Amino acid sequence: MMISIRGANTVEENTREAILDSTKELLQEIINANELEASQIISVFFTATKDLTKVYPAVAARDLGLTDCSLICCQEMYVEDSLKQCIRVLFHVNGTKEQKEIQHIYLGGAKVLRPDIAKPLSIAIDGPAGAGKSTIAKALAQKLNFIYVDTGAMYRALGYYIYHQINDDIYDEEKLSQYIQNYLDQIHVSIDYENGQQLIFVCDENVTSNIRTQEIGHIASIISANKYVRLFLVKEQQNLAKIKSVVMDGRDIGTHVLPDAPLKIFLTASVKIRALRRFNELREKNQTPHLETIQKEIEERDYRDMHREFAPLEQASDAIVIDTSEMSIDEVVTSIYERAKKLGL
Ligand code: DC
Repeated sequence: MMISIRGANTVEENTREAILDSTKELLQEIINANELEASQIISVFFTATKDLTKVYPAVAARDLGLTDCSLICCQEMYVEDSLKQCIRVLFHVNGTKEQKEIQHIYLGGAKVLRPDIAKPLSIAIDGPAGAGKSTIAKALAQKLNFIYVDTGAMYRALGYYIYHQINDDIYDEEKLSQYIQNYLDQIHVSIDYENGQQLIFVCDENVTSNIRTQEIGHIASIISANKYVRLFLVKEQQNLAKIKSVVMDGRDIGTHVLPDAPLKIFLTASVKIRALRRFNELREKNQTPHLETIQKEIEERDYRDMHREFAPLEQASDAIVIDTSEMSIDEVVTSIYERAKKLGL
């Protein structure tokens, strides 16, 4: 029976090497995913967008040993604002499978062409306060065209809300648990985006501008140790990652929220550097912080986050550790981006 298989991949730059690498990656993935033997392949039709000019992509097929099948390359019809630097393929194959069992393969930036079949991808970034998680995760998400999910903001928002309901009872473990068990099904924490910025709502109240203080950070750290709070927010976070490709940052993303994430990063930096970063951040927001107090608070927060009973801050065994103390933001983003690209994210 004759079947056809489609696929596409994007190319980083218009060079012979990049075009052949992307094409080989695509062909190999199609062959592996559909368990094809070279002898089954009748023909492969290639198109390239008009910005790829350095080599015929069919050369990659010959390099892979597809010597008997018919190959041809054409330029893809130019459509304004369409995906750039893209190679598309159409295989015709003598198959043993039915057409509906076929896996069409879309890689790299070409995933946007078939959102109906693209599985959401996720990158987990964990680490202690001030390691640079949110700045780096945000920049990385933008570069990869993923959604950035700041889970710390979810704990902060919930902390802000609960504190306004029960005040200092949040410090009483029993009263906090009781409140949460009684009211959690009436609380809704949601995320939205405006001009690329994450907005956070609790029960439809936009609390984005209220949660970035040391006090709310402290409250978030207290309530985040509570098992019921965590179960509630982890579910919300997992639901987000089911529908969108995300870069998610937090403390337990690689270990609990997204244990199957294909790329896990654990960012760290010395306490001194982290305190200094927080200090500068607060000063930029016209607050009047005290460096030693911040350092002490960070040490306390690290201890609480690492020693809580349920889902403590810890490095996933398959996470890559990056110490950001001596690195610029750009260096860290580029190093994670390159790893993501190698994994085909
Ligand atoms: O990253 P941040 O400072 O905005 O986080 C605030 C607090 O929330 C932090 O003390 C630990 C907690 N948190 C958590 O326990 N798990 C997460 N996934 C994210 C944050």
